[in-house]
Amino acid sequence: MKSKLIAPSILAADFGNLQRDVEMVNQSDADWFHIDIMDGVFVPNISFGMPVLKAIAQHAMKTIDVHLMIVDPDRYIKTFAELGSDILTVHYEACIHLHRTLQAIKAEGMKAGVALNPHTNVNVLEDTINDIDLVCLMSVNPGFGGQSFIENTYNKVHQLKEMIVRKGASVQIEIDGGVTSKNAKQLADAGADVLVAGSFVFKSSDQPETIKELKAIANS
Ligand code: DX5
Ligand code: ZN
Repeated sequence: MKSKLIAPSILAADFGNLQRDVEMVNQSDADWFHIDIMDGVFVPNISFGMPVLKAIAQHAMKTIDVHLMIVDPDRYIKTFAELGSDILTVHYEACIHLHRTLQAIKAEGMKAGVALNPHTNVNVLEDTINDIDLVCLMSVNPGFGGQSFIENTYNKVHQLKEMIVRKGASVQIEIDGGVTSKNAKQLADAGADVLVAGSFVFKSSDQPETIKELKAIANS
């Protein structure tokens, strides 16, 4: 079985010490940087934008996984490619022409991800799953870090995994929101490939050790 990946969410980092926190992730057992971009329209919060991502990318030595929580993401696909995004994830709920958006992301040399809000059934991806590199299942309502994990996510992971196998698709399943050492194993066993963790990592007293533990639990 492929090893499960850990993606610390920079939203929970100390923005006054951003370079320090990016270096911590570089030196840790983490696999990816998860970067949350919020526009205050698609979600009721604004995180940070291009200049901050540019600064992060200058120091980040690992895969940059950008999660766009913005309306009409097509406007910025090229920009996010130029800023160094390796994976660009858009929300299903924000895309009128999802298939076209996925093609545009791949045309810029990035992997294409689709995020689903907690209320969105995985079956909406039946006709695009073979065009997707990553599905991000939101296990909280997007917009804020530090929320509680929604238990129905386990069912969604099972349903999505079944679809991926049935369709012969090559897709990574990412879980985003409320991930801790308590749910990591059950998520991994259900079929999750990538666990995003914000507060659980950055609010801990020994962040590299927390990442290491989370990864060990996910791969146990
Ligand atoms: C929520 C973001 C998440 C968030 C996760 O809208 O997409 O990536 O940073 O934070 P925690 O792990 O604290 O729930
Ligand atoms: Zn996210």
